[in-house]
Amino acid sequence: MIETMKKSNRLMELEEKYGAHNYHPIPVVLEKGEGVYVWDVDGKKYFDFLSAYSAVNQGHCHPDIVAATITQLQKLTLSSRAFYNDSLGEYEKFITQFFGYDKVLPMNTGAEGVETALKMARRWGYAKKGIADNEAKIVVCENNFHGRTISIVSISSDPDSYGQFGPFTPGFLKVPFNDAEALEKLLSSDKNIAGFLIEPVQGEAGVVIPDDGYLKKVYDSCKKHNVLFIADEIQSGLGRTGKILSCDHEGVHPDILILGKALSGGVYPVSAVLANDEIMLCIKPGQHGSTYGGNPVACKAAIAGLTVLKEEKLAENSERLGKILLEELNKIKNERPELVTAVRGRGLFAAMVIKEKEGKTAWEVCLQLAQSGLLAKPTHGDIIRFAPPLVINEKQLVDCVAIIRKVILNF
Ligand SMILES: Cc1ncc(COP(=O)(O)O)c(C=O)c1O
Repeated sequence: MIETMKKSNRLMELEEKYGAHNYHPIPVVLEKGEGVYVWDVDGKKYFDFLSAYSAVNQGHCHPDIVAATITQLQKLTLSSRAFYNDSLGEYEKFITQFFGYDKVLPMNTGAEGVETALKMARRWGYAKKGIADNEAKIVVCENNFHGRTISIVSISSDPDSYGQFGPFTPGFLKVPFNDAEALEKLLSSDKNIAGFLIEPVQGEAGVVIPDDGYLKKVYDSCKKHNVLFIADEIQSGLGRTGKILSCDHEGVHPDILILGKALSGGVYPVSAVLANDEIMLCIKPGQHGSTYGGNPVACKAAIAGLTVLKEEKLAENSERLGKILLEELNKIKNERPELVTAVRGRGLFAAMVIKEKEGKTAWEVCLQLAQSGLLAKPTHGDIIRFAPPLVINEKQLVDCVAIIRKVILNF
């Protein structure tokens, strides 16, 4: 026991000593994952209730995704886009038909996908909308999270994200999330707006769900003013909220759709930006790209990731079990209203807001959850996000709720 304890401490110390201190992890060292479970180096088993920030929707090490990736790894890993490869076209056809777009631009990480979409929207603004050069603006929402690049932190409302990283990228305007009138007013007043970038559910902000009808209203405003509706579904998409895309809850088909994370089920970094020709073909050879973007391994991982999502009906499972999760979390809230001040959720994407108690916060709740065998992570200090792999079954969910209940009631 002491030997194994030493092992996790030693591994944490290594990260502390040799790694940048840009994260503050829950002190658990993982070495294995399968489906909804992960194991630490001491052999302790946990339910994963974060899913690597919703990248592992298909469950850890899904055998189909792993097999497709390994097969390709042994054949050809990287061609670069200097040449064609035998997987990219097949993947492009697959993903565009899956989501109903003319074309896809493949990238690797979420932030790269967002940057790509921003460039695309600006380019379309000049080439098609007739905005004067260097005048294009893009509207974003307050409290957004779209990644960590300079341009993306330029649009953040979180001082931890943008503080002392200036000077910032110009050309952005902000509106409150979930305020369709504010957007309509802004779009009416400025002809240089090329796009409106939104997370249909704000994940990092703490699973903030807009009112019914909001997405359709802002989409209609964008159409009215010839502004591109750009959905960042990197976290909210791919079954997480009970539909393949969060925008599907309101029948909204974004002009530009950004995907990442669960596209490969956590097996390989893959992101994608989808749009129709009128937008996509504004970008010509040599004007954007990525060495690894569209590599054959990524293509095979993403085809497998999307196939699993569809064949295993993970969005449907998320919708059904999400209702149970929300109901149960609300019951827990009603039992400890002075500690749990709010609960919200859509599909298997839920959050609990914790009131500080004698200096203890959501962090301490998460430590106790971990001790009890369930891994979750606070966001913004007082919110715990609950986002298990979508392969979870009802029995497992009931067990997880029992852990959460016990920890909250005894906190
Ligand atoms: C909505 C959203 N957009 C973009 C990103 C950035 O993705 P990545 O960390 O892969 O760059 C994230 C990551 O959490 C996200 O939640």
